[in-house]
Amino acid sequence: MDELVIYGTPKLTGERRKVEIPKPGPDEVLIKVVAAGLNPKDWKFARRRTKDRAINAGDDVSGIVESVGSNVFEYKPGDRVAAFHRMGEPSGGYAQHAIAPSSTTFLLPPRISFEAGAGLPLSSMTAAIALYQALGLPLPTMPGKKDLPLLIYGGATAVGAFALQFAKLSNLGPIITVAGAGIDFVESLDAATHIIDYRQGNVAQAILAALDGKPVHHALDAVSARGSHEIITDVLVASGGGEINMLDPVEDEGWQWPDTVKFSRTFVASAYSQKHEHISEEQAIADGEFAYFFYRYISHILATGKFRPHPHEVVSRGLDGVVEGVQSLCEGKVSAKKLIARITDTPNQ
Ligand SMILES: NC(=O)c1ccc[n+]([C@@H]2O[C@H](COP(=O)([O-])OP(=O)(O)OC[C@H]3O[C@@H](n4cnc5c(N)ncnc54)[C@H](OP(=O)(O)O)[C@@H]3O)[C@@H](O)[C@H]2O)c1
Repeated sequence: MDELVIYGTPKLTGERRKVEIPKPGPDEVLIKVVAAGLNPKDWKFARRRTKDRAINAGDDVSGIVESVGSNVFEYKPGDRVAAFHRMGEPSGGYAQHAIAPSSTTFLLPPRISFEAGAGLPLSSMTAAIALYQALGLPLPTMPGKKDLPLLIYGGATAVGAFALQFAKLSNLGPIITVAGAGIDFVESLDAATHIIDYRQGNVAQAILAALDGKPVHHALDAVSARGSHEIITDVLVASGGGEINMLDPVEDEGWQWPDTVKFSRTFVASAYSQKHEHISEEQAIADGEFAYFFYRYISHILATGKFRPHPHEVVSRGLDGVVEGVQSLCEGKVSAKKLIARITDTPNQ
């Protein structure tokens, strides 16, 4: 079969190659890939790799189950699914077939296209782990409206937009978010009570003005770049302290968190129980259990229309268009949408 591998040194490059169709392990699913979602992590993981260490960085997959491992009881050949592939491991989604753990695979309801579904697995689980496992906010299964203010920095990012939808389902409020070119999209989600335009500057003051004296103690930094942590820290400190969850490391290596601000990191690999510098083994195991049920809950809320995929744009030429798409993500040119590669669009397979 065809697979695309990418590497970032000396510059972002992709190469298509022929490999054997992989076989699923006992707890894995083999998927005939229809669409693969591109992510900012693709260039981040590839940037220090030279050609000899090129990887198939496709971790967001949608398609049809082709075969399953001996322990898999939930899926069968022919099922329409989306799945989160283990990052950095072989047999990713930039290929005609991919392998994913059955625990991070979920059914796509008929109303959700493969293209829309391919943008779901990684970013939606990042949002869910950040809100519920890291920040400990109430799940949508907890009834009643909660007077629990939440700041989601980056409402037009895929992770931020999914977090906004989950926060609304959890009945949290007020929900404050920050966006720019993607403001109209964020408004269309009808989840945030206040949307701050970062292009106008003075973002911390604008957030505090929107809160009108109400403290906010929980924040998800779905941008984790361009000084977002400093703005959030100012808001939390002005609120008497709180917790920030970040998706990427703080850019400023000398940065010190104030005593009143608790910092945590989300690393979505914990969805398949992988630990990380900031995520203990115990936490990773707990996140793996959480991801198992929450992916199945995502199938349910997609089917009932309570949750919707991020808008998407299909790149041209399938696998051959991935590098250009990843480069646009790297350059910050993509606003409020997922880029998706449709495998059958790839020429000369
Ligand atoms: N740790 C993990 O496991 C993990 C998992 C997933 C993602 N991440 C990281 O999380 C970040 C978001 O990922 P993603 O896939 O959700 O990104 P994305 O959808 O590609 O993000 C694009 C959006 O970023 C927004 N943005 C850029 N600068 C901003 C700013 N200063 N303030 C507010 N919004 C800003 C833009 O909003 P406008 O269009 O409104 O300008 C744009 O729509 C990336 O850094 C990614 O690497 C980490």
